[in-house]
Amino acid sequence: MIYRLLYTLLLCRFDAERVHRLTARGLIAVNRIAPLRRLLRALLVPRDPSLRVQALGLDFPSPLGLAAGFDKEAAGFDAYATLGFGHVEIGTVTAEGQPGNAGTRVFRLTRERALVNRMGFPNEGAAAAESRLRARDRSAAVVGVNVGKTRLAEDADADYQDSVRRLAPQADYLVLNVSSPNTPGLRDMQAVDRLAALIAAVRASLVDTPRQVPLLIKIAPDLSDEDIDAIADLALRERLDGLIATNTTIDRGALRDPAAPDVPAEGGISGAPLKPRSLAVLRRLHERTDGRLVLISVGGIETADDAWERIRAGATLVQAYTGFVYGGPLWPRRINRGLARRVREAGLAGIAEAIGADAAPQPAPAA
Ligand SMILES: Cc1cc2nc3c(=O)[nH]c(=O)nc-3n(C[C@H](O)[C@H](O)[C@H](O)COP(=O)(O)O)c2cc1C
Repeated sequence: MIYRLLYTLLLCRFDAERVHRLTARGLIAVNRIAPLRRLLRALLVPRDPSLRVQALGLDFPSPLGLAAGFDKEAAGFDAYATLGFGHVEIGTVTAEGQPGNAGTRVFRLTRERALVNRMGFPNEGAAAAESRLRARDRSAAVVGVNVGKTRLAEDADADYQDSVRRLAPQADYLVLNVSSPNTPGLRDMQAVDRLAALIAAVRASLVDTPRQVPLLIKIAPDLSDEDIDAIADLALRERLDGLIATNTTIDRGALRDPAAPDVPAEGGISGAPLKPRSLAVLRRLHERTDGRLVLISVGGIETADDAWERIRAGATLVQAYTGFVYGGPLWPRRINRGLARRVREAGLAGIAEAIGADAAPQPAPAA
């Protein structure tokens, strides 16, 4: 309520990226003050055992995570875990530092409860992220590392390899982002042959890593259903640990009013308009992989009911970005509490029992 007022009266009047930077700095600064951090952790970090999820060989205090793009530089993951996120996916990090696209890069479509971004992976590069991650207390938060292609790199596989070599030892899990619409050609890497080559290259660069790091791929919502099936099959064949679905959509038809004057021509749409497609992709992946992969669902999650629906549709974990931007710092707590209530109401011992509970029953084998 207070955040909504603050948002309507103040925050939405300034450039979205600037507001993001300032609020992130504020949250990080607050989290550095030990007594405040302790207090916030006591109030906000989920401790309800019914929310605990074990997946990817990791222990998640809640299925709700902060999606990639919010903490691009690995500068604030502890602060976001303090707010109640059960994991934080940092990045997208590229091998070389780069400025990203010029000009305004994040647009709010408040009436649509959406954002449009054309950021193009601004970040300081893998070496800077590595040094920040190295200093972390591994027990404080589960941190996934999302890597993408440096815009000017000619050999994409070698570029991913550079990032992975540096960052895998610091990551609780690793994500190959091949689905951002804002790096030219990146989404072409979702073609199955290209993806298989990328996975092989990344695996080759991981052979000397002492710990086996879970490897996931993040996909776009704009793939055809056939392509989604092909990626699901590939993920099983290649023994990937999981898939993250989905990134932002370039489909302006997802908006209620695509012709509105504030809709930018370029960039990926996130938030409420993405909800139906993101859920449909999850359902398809779950049906195709039959519970054999960890699925992380992201796209348009705004309420505990949305998160619950994804889990029942087969998501082991869920993530959000835009819902958090519109919902404010207490949003993760609301989602966690809502999820815990739904677990209780369903008479389950824990949320893990709800994973895939709504999935279409498999046809009985022919007699
Ligand atoms: C401003 C902004 C920047 C983003 N940057 C990244 C990124 O760097 N890497 C990535 O994999 N996804 C990125 N995303 C996509 C989100 O991680 C997420 O997949 C997408 O926004 C859908 O979730 P949502 O509807 O909860 O926002 C970004 C999203 C936004 C809004």
